[in-house]
Amino acid sequence: MASFGGFLYAAILLLLCIFHVDVVRGQSTHPTEANALNAIKGRLIDPMNNLKNWNRGDPCTSNWAGVTCSKIPSDAYLHVTKLEVFKMNLSGTLAPEVGLLSELNNLNFMWNNLTGNIPKEIGNISTLKLLNLNGNHLSGSIPDEIGYLENLKRLQIDQNKISGPIPKSFANLMSMEHLHMNNNSLSGKIPSELSKMPGLLHLLLDNNDLSGPLPPKLADTRSLKILQADNNNFSGSSIPSAYNSIKTLIKMSLRNCSLQGGIPDLSGLPGLGYLDLSWNQLTGSIPTNRLASNITTIDLSHNFLNGTIPANFSGLPNIQFLSIEANNIHGAVPLAIWSNLTYKGNGSLVLDFQNNSLDTIPDAFEPPKAVVLLLFGNPVCDASNAARAARLCQPTSVNKVPSGPQVSINCVACSTDKNYEYNPSSPIPCICAVPVGVGFRLKSPGISDFRPHKEVFEFNSTSQLGLSIYQLYIEEYIWEAGPRLNMNLKLFPNNTNLFTMSEVMRLRQLLAGWEITLPDVFGPYELLNFTYADEFPTVISSGLSKGALAGILVGTVTAAIAVSVASTVFIMRKRSINRTVSRRSLLSRFFVKVDGVRCFTFEEMARASNAFDDSAEVGQGGYGKVYKGKLADGTAVAIKRAHEDSLQGSMEFCTEIELLSRLHHRNLVSLIGYCDEQCEQMLVYEFMPNGTLRDHLSVISKRPLNFGQRLHIALGAAKGILYLHTEADPPIFHRDVKATNILLDSKFVAKVADFGLSKLAPVPDVEGTLPAHISTIVRGTPGYLDPEYILTHKLTEKSDVYSLGVVLLELLTGMKPIQFGKNIVREVKSAYRSGDIAGILDSRMSSCPPDCATRFLLLALKCCQNETDARPYMAEIVRELDGIRSVLPEEDLFSVNSTITGSSVTLGNSAPDSQAATTRELFNSLQASSSGQAYSGILSGTVSPR
Ligand SMILES: *[C@@H]1O[C@H](CO)[C@@H](O)[C@H](O)[C@H]1NC(C)=O
Ligand SMILES: *[C@@H]1O[C@H](CO)[C@@H](O)[C@H](O)[C@H]1NC(C)=O
Ligand SMILES: *[C@@H]1O[C@H](CO)[C@@H](O)[C@H](O)[C@H]1NC(C)=O
Ligand SMILES: *[C@@H]1O[C@H](CO)[C@@H](O)[C@H](O)[C@H]1NC(C)=O
Ligand SMILES: *[C@@H]1O[C@H](CO)[C@@H](O)[C@H](O)[C@H]1NC(C)=O
Repeated sequence: MASFGGFLYAAILLLLCIFHVDVVRGQSTHPTEANALNAIKGRLIDPMNNLKNWNRGDPCTSNWAGVTCSKIPSDAYLHVTKLEVFKMNLSGTLAPEVGLLSELNNLNFMWNNLTGNIPKEIGNISTLKLLNLNGNHLSGSIPDEIGYLENLKRLQIDQNKISGPIPKSFANLMSMEHLHMNNNSLSGKIPSELSKMPGLLHLLLDNNDLSGPLPPKLADTRSLKILQADNNNFSGSSIPSAYNSIKTLIKMSLRNCSLQGGIPDLSGLPGLGYLDLSWNQLTGSIPTNRLASNITTIDLSHNFLNGTIPANFSGLPNIQFLSIEANNIHGAVPLAIWSNLTYKGNGSLVLDFQNNSLDTIPDAFEPPKAVVLLLFGNPVCDASNAARAARLCQPTSVNKVPSGPQVSINCVACSTDKNYEYNPSSPIPCICAVPVGVGFRLKSPGISDFRPHKEVFEFNSTSQLGLSIYQLYIEEYIWEAGPRLNMNLKLFPNNTNLFTMSEVMRLRQLLAGWEITLPDVFGPYELLNFTYADEFPTVISSGLSKGALAGILVGTVTAAIAVSVASTVFIMRKRSINRTVSRRSLLSRFFVKVDGVRCFTFEEMARASNAFDDSAEVGQGGYGKVYKGKLADGTAVAIKRAHEDSLQGSMEFCTEIELLSRLHHRNLVSLIGYCDEQCEQMLVYEFMPNGTLRDHLSVISKRPLNFGQRLHIALGAAKGILYLHTEADPPIFHRDVKATNILLDSKFVAKVADFGLSKLAPVPDVEGTLPAHISTIVRGTPGYLDPEYILTHKLTEKSDVYSLGVVLLELLTGMKPIQFGKNIVREVKSAYRSGDIAGILDSRMSSCPPDCATRFLLLALKCCQNETDARPYMAEIVRELDGIRSVLPEEDLFSVNSTITGSSVTLGNSAPDSQAATTRELFNSLQASSSGQAYSGILSGTVSPR
């Protein structure tokens, strides 16, 4: 059924989809920080609208993209601790107000297109640990103020256009470990003050305009592992001999730095694994002191070195690349050079001795297959030499070592969907799954051949990511300028098809927060992208033109004709094309498994509902049509299929499902699953065999509910809504409580439906004050609408109270909210005032003790008062309904025989003493509010029935 598979594929940058988890209800972002975020947004250009939710509600509690918050002990606000807007196509500048985010740990704007300067105000953020601005177009110089960030551990400003000197103030960066400033236009000397950073591990300064001598002082650093300063101009400087005392050094890379003088003794560096001094003007002979036995790479090419190849180049077990190309080395090619080579993991050794003065090859000379020896341009290659030399004397440009191999797998293509792939690493063959794609680059590796280290990489990275080793597939690795090793990693779910959302977020956090540390030999890594269900090479979905999209969909339609439900599906698909191109061309597809909720395919949904046949339709609401369906396992379900106008971005849809999946209450209809594909969004609920409450109140209902049942239904509905108001996090206002949204299960237990499909409860606005309402366009159902809400557009939890009050009146009277132009609230109130309660009670309702009915009625009317404040809270309603139930005679609860005699119901009648106060209280407040102009024409005047 590949036909159902390919549709709207667009790349997703998961980083957009950050679910806030730590939100504490009632708290809000510190106002200064909220304002700062708005100022930041104001200076950014966001063509993809990736920060579109940055103008809604409170940053910390409304899920602003890339914003993570925490509480701190010292005040009651939430504080922004992470601002991670990585690779979001943002341009514009970084506003100085960023300095007001005073609790920030992690500022990450990597791989955007920011211009302008690095604001000096960042220096105020004393809590900052990670400052990642690499991969932008930032210019200007590095503010001295950055040097005062005592807690800064990682500074990545590489790949920008930053100029000027490296500030001496960096001496104060007491926590600095990773200082990446490569690929900029920095000038001046490398300040010797850098040696004052006690924990400095990686110093990357390559590809700048740095000059002056290399500071010998740098030898004072106590932990430096990587010193990389290629492509600068330290003209006249030599390599300080003091560097032989940086005992921790693993990599020294000073290619093309105009260095002069000799190569110092480096035998004091026991861990040296990588030495590149090529393209300088180094003279003299190569020191004969012993090199570290672990060394993988020695590149001394393009210098003015003379003398012979030293004996210490022989017997190195891990050597991968040794070049002395283009020097003036003479003498013999040493035989023992590969004598102790391990050839681990298909490794090979490249020996580039081209363009020197080597004149002798020993007789018994035959390099093993894994050794590539290049001798072109040496006297040994003269015609007079043996024919075997000729083989080694071809001019060759060395590409160091090959890039990654690709496994071919013998599985038939995954049939379900293009985002599904086989995991070639999996021990179980041909499992289709949707992997996380990780663009991963080793920025300064200490190796020249990845193959012998691949296993260690796989083992170490997966164990730190908490994955099994076969969940990682290294799809490709390519050596790039630097040299850097660019890798495409695929992380597959473990023995299943899809990752859970939280699993994806966890992986992202580990990688983007540099929470894993690879073995030293790999050097620092950088994260280039992180994608899930990404079909296109770019990360952003805009790359898909409408034409291309239409093409994909047309292809789909053609294929769809073949399937069994052909004609129906075809019609639906045609509709989908229009939908898609007009409305969803920029919306992205999002594959996510939410814990406890199933993800259905469109096919499954079509099969369950008999291809959405009219006969399966059981209802229709604002969201769309509802179908009864039967899943393959026989479970009866209600499928709510979004109307075209209700379609959401996949991200929002996914947020909503996460939210709904967390709501579990006996009186809420529970979500079983969802379907989000083919421009369709559906929610799958448990099926309620007894239909809606409205059905049972209608005059045609064959088995009218007795009072006890009605009371139970009222109580159930109230408890369900109370849960939404108080237990859901964030709180949910239902906004459309009505008799058709209260469903009854096989035991007539009331379950509230259709919640969560509307706006959530208010969150604090950017000023940090919690608004008591949500201001938005009026929605809801005429007859149930809170009059104050209609007038003011202020939605509060009391709006749901009003609507429930109307439902309570329906339960008592059997009337519809608006019937024959009459409004139920007004009718009941006037009947009540004239003392004729009996006349309005549903005459088909049996077993109705008058005092109970009276209390019920008073409660309902109290809920339906015009003034928001006069209405009870949901918790009070539940308490009162419980109270009524507790005095209801046991036999009345389920009896169906006795019929109410209207005349026996009189006002204020014989409530037990303990309840009398409550009843009187309700009554009094009702009298008070019903005086004067209360019940003016708002209800029927403003909202007329459809
Ligand atoms: C950044 O800007 C450059 C031109 O300055 C453009 O070529 C590139 O596509 C932009 N990149 C992104 C991610 O917007
Ligand atoms: C050489 O490498 C191995 C593993 O890669 C490591 O355990 C060992 O400590 C290294 N030796 C030195 C002297 O650094
Ligand atoms: C090697 O080079 C150095 C410096 O250029 C020079 O002093 C020395 O004489 C040379 N040695 C030989 C053997 O050519
Ligand atoms: C090879 O390794 C052995 C054992 O570690 C060592 O004794 C020998 O000297 C090495 N060979 C060379 C040429 O260095
Ligand atoms: C991975 O490498 C890091 C750094 O060398 C080390 O601390 C860690 O123990 C390694 N983990 C595993 C599982 O090999």
